[in-house]
Amino acid sequence: MNKIAIIGGGNLGTAIAKGLLVSKNYQPADIIITRNKIERLKDLKEKGVNVSRDNIFAVNNARIIIIAVKPYKVVDILNEIGPGLKSGHHIIASVATGITTDFIIKTLEQEIPVFRVMPNTAIEIQESITCICSRNANFADREQIKNLFSLLGEAIVINEELMEAATVLGACGIAFVFRFIRAMMQAGIEIGFDAITASKIAEQTVKGAAELLQKGGKHPEEEIDKVTTPKGCTISGLNEMEHRGFSSSLIKGILNSFHKIEK
Ligand SMILES: NC(=O)c1ccc[n+]([C@@H]2O[C@H](COP(=O)([O-])OP(=O)(O)OC[C@H]3O[C@@H](n4cnc5c(N)ncnc54)[C@H](OP(=O)(O)O)[C@@H]3O)[C@@H](O)[C@H]2O)c1
Repeated sequence: MNKIAIIGGGNLGTAIAKGLLVSKNYQPADIIITRNKIERLKDLKEKGVNVSRDNIFAVNNARIIIIAVKPYKVVDILNEIGPGLKSGHHIIASVATGITTDFIIKTLEQEIPVFRVMPNTAIEIQESITCICSRNANFADREQIKNLFSLLGEAIVINEELMEAATVLGACGIAFVFRFIRAMMQAGIEIGFDAITASKIAEQTVKGAAELLQKGGKHPEEEIDKVTTPKGCTISGLNEMEHRGFSSSLIKGILNSFHKIEK
């Protein structure tokens, strides 16, 4: 009834399959994953997941169809699987960047429930922030897809108009955070640490800061106030960063990505 077909077993497709298995809410036999080079799905096959080159077979044996191919391949996949889709049975969830629900429905020429889903690469360790919007979906479908992606991190429902913004803030955003960590490491090395120790300190500091906000529910500035002693070294460093455009450059970078994606 609720078997899942993942069309496109690349980076994201396999991360979704692995995450679902770790969650234990899905058995290996509940998942079918396809790609052309199926030998690269050996790990999943050994775990009992169905692997195949046959997208039609996958669609015929599943209810939820996750499309995880590159955006330029989506039309071919929709044309291939479209005739096998049954309205009232199948649900489509596409993770392809920039492909709208309207485009999918028009290409399929069927009023089938369609979800557009934007995770980030932390889905590999079930720590994604995944933004979801839908068309033609009823309450039960929406709950089912949200629950599915909640097994792979946090899942939130947004309006489709915000999907490009979600791509920039969440999916591109992880790269911005990595660059921040790398910059902290570089500075850490210059003030005396070896790369591994600097990396460990930077990573755990970012993780701890994020968890403090998540668990405490406070504004970041309140947490900053706790560590800034009058005339101290933290405020001195922070102010120097701001004089050099730290917040401004981050905001401008995010806006630049957004303008690029909008084009
Ligand atoms: N990676 C991310 O962080 C991220 C985040 C959000 C959204 N996305 C979106 O997710 C999608 C997948 O990204 P990715 O990074 O996982 O790309 P990827 O690693 O290139 O995976 C795409 C997979 O599609 C398979 N494929 C190609 N033609 C196929 C066909 N006819 N039938 C079945 N499978 C086929 C390819 O398999 P073969 O090589 O065997 O042909 C490949 O493994 C993209 O649309 C991307 O925009 C990615």
